[in-house]
Order: sequence, then C-alpha cells, then structure tokens
Amino acid sequence: EKGNYRHFMQKEIFEQPTVVAQTLRSYLRPGEQRVALPQIDFDISAIDRITIVACGTSYYAGMVAKYWFEQFARVPVDIDFASEFRYRDPILTPGGLALFISQSGETADTLAALKHCKANGQVIASVVNVPTSSMARESDLLLPTHAGPEIGVASTKAFTCQLAVLAALAAHFAVKKGLMDREEEAEVVKHLLEAPASLNAALDHDDEIADMAHLIAPARDVLYLGRGADFPLALEGALKLKEISYIHAEGYASGEMKHGPIALIDDAVPVIVLAPSGPLFEKTVSNMQEVQARGGKVVLISDADGIAQAGEGCMAVIEMPKVHPLIAPLVYAVPVQLLAYHVAVAKGTDVDQPRNLAKSVTVE
Ligand code: M6R
Repeated sequence: EKGNYRHFMQKEIFEQPTVVAQTLRSYLRPGEQRVALPQIDFDISAIDRITIVACGTSYYAGMVAKYWFEQFARVPVDIDFASEFRYRDPILTPGGLALFISQSGETADTLAALKHCKANGQVIASVVNVPTSSMARESDLLLPTHAGPEIGVASTKAFTCQLAVLAALAAHFAVKKGLMDREEEAEVVKHLLEAPASLNAALDHDDEIADMAHLIAPARDVLYLGRGADFPLALEGALKLKEISYIHAEGYASGEMKHGPIALIDDAVPVIVLAPSGPLFEKTVSNMQEVQARGGKVVLISDADGIAQAGEGCMAVIEMPKVHPLIAPLVYAVPVQLLAYHVAVAKGTDVDQPRNLAKSVTVE
C-alpha cells in the first residue's frame, strides 16, 4: 500500500533511512564496532580477483563497489553488464569471486552470467533483495538486502541497500586480507551507521527539489557529472530521469567533459553536478566552471562547505549534509532520485509504471 504517498516510488525513496538501517543490522556489530558477514565457507584472503556482473541500477551499485574493493581490499575488480559479459568469453581463473547484484534475483542476463561463472569454477556471491529468487538459490554466498518489496519500476531503495551491503563486504575483505586494522574497521562501521540519519537529512530537501523541478522539466537533454565513487551516481541520476520523465539524460565522469560532451553545452542543457566536499571536490568544480564558462546552467549538489565555495553562478543548489566520502554515494542517491521523481510528476508521466519498461527483465 502507498499510505500517504502519491506513488510507490515516492514511498520507497522515503523508506531508505529505515531499510538501509535494517540492512546494516545484518552486516555490522555496532557494539563491537565490527563488520559481521554471514558464515562464509571459503577463504576470502585467497580471493585474488572479483568479477561483478549486473544490469541497470544494480550495475551502478557494482561500479561504486569497485572503488571500495580496490581502495580497501586492493583486489582487482572487473565489472560488466550481464548482457555483455555472457557473450564476451570472459577470462575466469580459479580463485576468483563472481559477484552478482540484483534487486529481483531473476534478471535473465544476470542469471545466465551467474550460471556461466559457476560452470567456470568461480565462487558465486549474490546481493539480492528477494531471498527466494533463482540467483539466491544458485549462490555459494547469499548477501540479502532488506529493502522489502520494491514496487516502483525505477529502483531506489534497493540501490541504497545494495550499497550498504557492498560497503560492508568490501570492508570485510580488507579485514580478512590484513589491510584494515581494528581502528579503521571501527571508522568504517561508524560512518556506515551514520548513513540512515544522513539519508533523512537529504530527504528534508524534498520540497526544495520539488520547487526546482520546473527548471528541468522543459529540458530536452540533461547531463549529470560526478567523479570517483560518485561518478556512478551521475549515471544513476541520468537513468532515473530517462526512465520516468522520458527526458534524454547522460551521466559522465566530470573529467571526460572536455573530451567531447562539452560540445553539447548551451543554456538549454541543465547540468547536474554531484560534488560532495572531499579529495575530488576541487577537480569536479573546475570541470563545472568549464561548463559555466560556456553558458551551461548548473545545478550543484554539494554540502554547505562546497556550496559556499562554488555555489555562486549556479542556476540552483541542493544542499546535502556533510558526510564521509564512504557514504556519499548512498546519500547523494536521494537528491537524484527526488529530482527525477518531481520532474516526472511535473510532466505527468506514469511514475510507477513508465512506458516500455518491466520491473523484472526476465527475457534476454
Ligand atoms: O532486478 P535487477 O536489479 O536485476 O534489475 C536490473 C535492472 O533491470 C533495473 O535496475 C532497472 O535498470 C531499473 N528499472 C532501474 O531503475
């Protein structure tokens, strides 16, 4: 039931603080400040390579996880769309872990890729929201998200719960590989536990984002920019906007703008810039200024410090709470979801059941 909400998507966006907290409860032991994974009956420290396979929004969660696995656990990560992976004869050496991410656990291409990896000697792990799904049943290691049923075709709460599980998993790998000491592990746990409150703080900007929707609704094209672990959020923001508002949108790594896409910039193309303050902030801002110098209309999503530093000259700003870079991808998911939602509402599209799309893609 939708309760007081107008759409399932809106309800699911607002459920995120609760379901992320619920998911984290299965992967953290707050009292001991430790990461706690389900019983694992293979040797993590022996895993020398991770292959992540998924589709759509779940793929973007995997892209974020690649940054985390490489940063914390120093394990090389290969990631691919399921529909590409299964036809490219991937090199799978013994000792590899294949990690599948899926809300439904039934996406045909992802399931086929899983079976291929299983037949080729990989250890199979899956992050799924439906614990009785085909992918769950085929896995050696099942890592459920506890998002509850997701009804809106546009994935929202499943994504942030996937990120929560993947962050815990990356930290667990780092601990097992001897690359994260107790103190660093306690820090990671602390930041992850801050996520639900920060998600709430992000949701507080709902009205403001709704007011801003009229700036985006008339656009024919919208660009999203981000860097590092927030680059996949730019892709996710563009996907959300495309699928429910039918506005053409693309996400780019900020630094790639000058290699082509900047040619598109004029005052009719809004550019949404995701720039939490942190080590990559200055770099992203300089890309943003290149856009502004060409008449581009920027919506800057950053925290108070970032907005104070770079907000001037933007068409609009959305202020996020100041968060640790680890949880920024979870928190910055909220404004991109809300923006897509309100633009779609402003355009009068069918938010929960966009044209041409199915919730679960069980055909190849
Ligand atoms: O159930 P899955 O997570 O495997 O689904 C993958 C994609 O079909 C899904 O994320 C799709 O891209 C969503 N409509 C995005 O909002």
